[in-house]
Amino acid sequence: MAETKKIAIIPGDGIGPEVIAEAVKVLKKTEELFGYKFETETGLFGGIAIDETGTPLPQDTLEKCQRADAVLLGAVGGPKWDNNPKELRPETGLLGIRKALGLFSNIRPAVIFDCLKEASTLKPEVLEGTDLIVVRELTGGIYFGEKFRRETDNGQEAVDTCVYNVKEVERIVHQAFQIARNRRKKLCSVDKANVLETSRLWRETVNKIAPEYPDVELEHVLVDNCAMQLLRRPSSFDVIVTENMFGDILSDEAAMLTGSIGMLSSASLGEGSFGLYEPVHGSAPDIAGQGIANPIATILSVALMFKLSFGYHEAGDAIEKAVKSVLDAGHRTGDIAVDKSKAIGTTAMGDLIVAAIHK
Ligand code: IPM
Ligand code: MG
Repeated sequence: MAETKKIAIIPGDGIGPEVIAEAVKVLKKTEELFGYKFETETGLFGGIAIDETGTPLPQDTLEKCQRADAVLLGAVGGPKWDNNPKELRPETGLLGIRKALGLFSNIRPAVIFDCLKEASTLKPEVLEGTDLIVVRELTGGIYFGEKFRRETDNGQEAVDTCVYNVKEVERIVHQAFQIARNRRKKLCSVDKANVLETSRLWRETVNKIAPEYPDVELEHVLVDNCAMQLLRRPSSFDVIVTENMFGDILSDEAAMLTGSIGMLSSASLGEGSFGLYEPVHGSAPDIAGQGIANPIATILSVALMFKLSFGYHEAGDAIEKAVKSVLDAGHRTGDIAVDKSKAIGTTAMGDLIVAAIHK
């Protein structure tokens, strides 16, 4: 009998609850099939938490996450809260949970699913073989530096500070090298060292660490150039490591290469095996409550959780295989269907995947 793993489940806003429900079915199926034992606690977070408790990240939810072995998050945010003051915005909760749980590393894989190649806006021959991971620093940089406004002779002035210390750079870079070592052994470090001091420290630190990973080929690419190369030669990238803001932008770009953001999972990790897992897509308020959202990214987030936090590789592989077989059989939700009239709904897709998970 496997030890009990505690999972905090945070459905959040928009399509979050719908896609999470399908991921929970997958958890149940793997319990039956592989003898795992999961104990789940559900918490309020994001817009729904603002509505019900007056804060995007209630203490109770944070505590549920802190006593869990991993967190499964749906999505947060929506137009309803877009004009709220900063403390009452879902995004503030997201930044708060990352910081409070020490999740300094955000891992966003962008993989091309062969059967969905036609969904990308890039030519198939450019995409061929694309399989990359963006490793984004998640708790530092301009997101968390001092911010303020002041009056000047030219009117109000706003300041956002970008700060990085060596330790923050070292821990994320080590992690990226280790990920690269277990893949195609290529690491691309992205910065703006021709302009920014934080980037010069970043690059120096990467170069200092590199000799510890002689088996990994390292390149430094400036962020503007990287944005371009991602469109020109996506398949040449293996692991990209970068600071918070650059990673935010480049990971969206990388996700879009695949043409199917509804398929991509992500992990936010700290020290040790704890992690927060979530689909890359947002809360999609425009289609919320219609039962048509694609649950695959969330289901694949469970597979990622199994592998990275629990070491349940066999079940992780089984989930990925099940997704592939359902897609290969031609089943599609609306976002990835060529013939929209044949699209199936969220629950139908979840049920098909659950049925296709085998030991
Ligand atoms: C993301 C999102 C968030 C970020 C926003 C919602 C604060 O864009 O997870 O990439 O910028 O980190
Ligand atoms: Mg983003």
